[in-house]
Amino acid sequence: MYNSKIIGLGKYLPDNVVTNADLEKIMETSDAWIQERTGIQERRHIAKDSDDSTSSMGVKASKIAIERAGLLPQDIDLILFATLSPDYYFPGSGVLVQEVLEIPDCPAMDIRMQCSGFVYAVATADQFIKTGMYKNVLVIGSEYHSGGLDMTTRGRNISVIFGDGAGAVVMTRAENNEVGVLNSQLHSEGKYAKELSLIGPNTGRWVPEIMEANDPDDISYYPYMNGQFVFKNAVVRFSEVILAGLQKAGWKPEDIDMLIPHQANLRISQFVQKKFGLSDAQVYNNIQRYGNTTAASIPIALTEACEEGKIKEGSRVVLAAFGSGFTWGSVSIQW
Ligand SMILES: CC(C)(COP(=O)(O)OP(=O)(O)OC[C@H]1O[C@@H](n2cnc3c(N)ncnc32)[C@H](O)[C@@H]1OP(=O)(O)O)[C@@H](O)C(=O)NCCC(=O)NCCS
Repeated sequence: MYNSKIIGLGKYLPDNVVTNADLEKIMETSDAWIQERTGIQERRHIAKDSDDSTSSMGVKASKIAIERAGLLPQDIDLILFATLSPDYYFPGSGVLVQEVLEIPDCPAMDIRMQCSGFVYAVATADQFIKTGMYKNVLVIGSEYHSGGLDMTTRGRNISVIFGDGAGAVVMTRAENNEVGVLNSQLHSEGKYAKELSLIGPNTGRWVPEIMEANDPDDISYYPYMNGQFVFKNAVVRFSEVILAGLQKAGWKPEDIDMLIPHQANLRISQFVQKKFGLSDAQVYNNIQRYGNTTAASIPIALTEACEEGKIKEGSRVVLAAFGSGFTWGSVSIQW
């Protein structure tokens, strides 16, 4: 059995900045409300005239990660692409990345675990590397939310939160089992599937039926979120899954050099920080600048934390996420 470790990271954010003041012009909301409830000041939205897509943002982040890993695209043995906003219903975005990166015929798998997608993908990569089946795995989180949000007052509880972007990491076999991914914890609870979901069109209600109804008030093809219920579950599950990872790694909260929580809401991160008695230096937050980028939020934050020198060799790093499904998980990494 081998350990896996992260050897290259990259991120890509569209140039187009959308501030809270910009949103005030198109819906009934306010900078004060958004900042107080979520911490978000601005987010990125792919510009209308841009060619960016979920897969192309993933490609841009991946090229940086692969180069920083000192590898060539052809060295990649497996692509894992985490997203809830794939370019197409099918095929997945992983194969689109494979084609652009010109990696001949490696497996390219999409991971559909929403905000927990990157944590699930890292855990999956770790398992493939552990068994020796694959050596170099490209793990991507990318989301193109802005095109599919209800940007009117009706959708404001969701549309102010989400942003576009991508992050990627290259994972490989560690030379010894003292470093790399020490453990991963994964969970889901399908009874709350609809509490944070986008359900239409679906196999119970196909496109012809929706077109025939022609109902302007049909909002089933916009995301739905029971915000307070999600919030209450998130703080509990984040705490449980971080604690489980710490116990398995034999670490105490004070041992954590960097906790990278999925950037769901600054208030959730602050709750978790307080619960474990962590200092500001032990927790990375960038939701203020990018909003919630779902599967992309952790790899973007992880890349920035490394670029800023806040994670280095020897650092003890914890990734943790909660999201639609409900799904949640953590990964403890000895850097
Ligand atoms: C979405 C969230 C910020 C809303 O905050 P909240 O304190 O729960 O607010 P509520 O939904 O109870 O709404 C309070 C009021 O603000 C209003 N409101 C909602 N969105 C608003 C917005 N963007 N601007 C202004 N007012 C808004 C509501 O209509 C409501 O008005 P009312 O009291 O007149 O009915 C919060 O529930 C949350 O962060 N939940 C978790 C979200 C999350 O993490 N999702 C991703 C999980 S991975």
